[in-house]
Amino acid sequence: MRNLPLSRVYRLIEPGPVVLLATARPGRANLMAMSWHMMVEFEPPRIACVVSDRNFSYKALRATGECVIAIPSASLARKVVAIGNCHGNVVDKFRRFALTPHAAAKVAPPLVEECLANLECRVVDKSLVKKYGIFILEVMKAWYDSRQTKAKNISSSRLWGICP
Ligand SMILES: Cc1cc2nc3c(=O)[nH]c(=O)nc-3n(C[C@H](O)[C@H](O)[C@H](O)COP(=O)(O)O)c2cc1C
Repeated sequence: MRNLPLSRVYRLIEPGPVVLLATARPGRANLMAMSWHMMVEFEPPRIACVVSDRNFSYKALRATGECVIAIPSASLARKVVAIGNCHGNVVDKFRRFALTPHAAAKVAPPLVEECLANLECRVVDKSLVKKYGIFILEVMKAWYDSRQTKAKNISSSRLWGICP
């Protein structure tokens, strides 16, 4: 066994899949990578996720209460890491990473066309936001790409070789 720095422990525990969180301020959609999330209810599906207040996405999520969780396939892993290493206030990530926004049915933030699945969500509980950055989301509408049912999602451990 070799020493693992304590700063890397999260990589063993975080559940994955690594997802993209799409948010939108008026006229401006953004994406961030997100791996700290968990299911908390079957139906209606509810998901707890941690969004740090250091991220541009945090402001949009707090202000609008809406987002899309897009599930990328493993083939998008490098893009996802790059999306998680730049900020939407300086970069138009849809454009820079050549991803296609697609109008959602129930929320303002767009679906990501290249992803395996997209979940349209609304924030239903903010009580843990101040202390932990935890937002409780409810999935209002779910989509999957029938051409990609055999594709694999991105498990966090796959990123060991990619993340800086
Ligand atoms: C693989 C990966 C997973 C990440 N998971 C999270 C997460 O769960 N919560 C979070 O707040 N930031 C997470 N981040 C960091 C954000 O994606 C990153 O700070 C991003 O640049 C924020 O973009 P924004 O400022 O445009 O919102 C992750 C980054 C990577 C590369």
